[in-house]
Amino acid sequence: MKTYLVTGGAGFIGSNYIHYLFEKYGSAANIINLDKLTYAGNLENLRDVESNNNYRFVKGDICDASVVDPLVREADIVINFAAESHVDRSIGAPDDFIKTDIYGAFMLLEAARKHGVEKFVQISTDEVYGSIIDGSFKETDVLEPSSPYSASKAGADRLAYSYFVTYDLPVIITRCSNNYGPCQYPEKLIPLFVTNALEDKSLPIYGDGKNVRDWIYVRDHCDAIEFLVHHGDDGQVYNIGAGEERMNIEITDLILKYLKKPDSLKMYVQDRLGHDRRYSVDTAKIAALGWQPSHSFEQAMQDTIQWYIDHKKWWARLKSGEYKEYYKAHYKREL
Ligand code: NAD
Ligand code: DAU
Repeated sequence: MKTYLVTGGAGFIGSNYIHYLFEKYGSAANIINLDKLTYAGNLENLRDVESNNNYRFVKGDICDASVVDPLVREADIVINFAAESHVDRSIGAPDDFIKTDIYGAFMLLEAARKHGVEKFVQISTDEVYGSIIDGSFKETDVLEPSSPYSASKAGADRLAYSYFVTYDLPVIITRCSNNYGPCQYPEKLIPLFVTNALEDKSLPIYGDGKNVRDWIYVRDHCDAIEFLVHHGDDGQVYNIGAGEERMNIEITDLILKYLKKPDSLKMYVQDRLGHDRRYSVDTAKIAALGWQPSHSFEQAMQDTIQWYIDHKKWWARLKSGEYKEYYKAHYKREL
């Protein structure tokens, strides 16, 4: 029976991944969730699995060696999701990004080197390549991250690789495109726009709204990670994407149409500093191993919007109090 150490498991993708592991293995895998519970960590996401005997939650910081070391010693497989993940926050206050995303990854890699693990998966991002106007990035392309967030992720990405080259640690690095699905913090484009529209509040579109992202359903991302744990080659980087490129304005229109809300909710606002125009990854490498996404964009988007309709309690709490104050101070407008 394998023991997974999932860091950042109370966040959006981490909690979906823990659900995915339960569905796949039931009680046949041990799962340890190490999470600091920052504003983005939410144990509500895991209420339905927390009483399982093969699941354990540990509140702690991946930057703290005394926390990380004994947990990595127990683990066969480490999946490092823990990160500060929101680009806008990294523009306003990069400190925690450098600490968690780089130094935290370093602490985990050091513990893995000391104790040995079967697999160490560093969850990187397609943002490490920077923007591309035509074509798609391959895994061998140069990294040109353009925000403090993506630069910190690029640092961890290459640090993980160095542990493979230097210490022979069985590292796999994944670079996935934009995820959507249940339990995403309502500061990211899709949950922010869906929940604002549900409350008849305006949808703040940065710049001309023509920036492009490739949208992948979070379950497909989880499936790809698990596939790579078993079929990926050590020391390799794998792009993950769905080939569903959309301009932000198209996502906005789709949300308004599904919710039957008026166009007048669209509000063009000042652009994000250093805003990457387009992300696009070439996924031929993981496809050649035999993996491809299985959810259709249209259906998974509908399911996602419906999830936010059905879980108002989940997001209404997050959109009040502390986050409301943060949003007002940072964006100079009401949430
Ligand atoms: P998230 O912000 O929803 O969750 C991050 C989690 O990490 C939270 O639970 C938070 O409490 C925890 N955390 C933060 N700092 C920590 C620390 N020092 N120690 C322990 N836990 C800490 O992020 P997400 O969207 O779920 O992203 C997860 C990972 O996937 C990140 O590494 C991100 O860079 C990467 N990624 C995200 C996307 C996306 O579209 N969301 C796409 C590609 C890659
Ligand atoms: O590409 C993968 C990355 O996707 C991950 O590594 C990041 O963790 C994740 O946050 C996401 O980054 P983005 O910056 O692409 O996601 P975000 O949801 O913040 O923005 C998506 C697009 O929508 C982007 O072009 C900016 C725009 N946007 C975003 C917000 C929050 C708006 O126009 N208005 C908004 O209010």
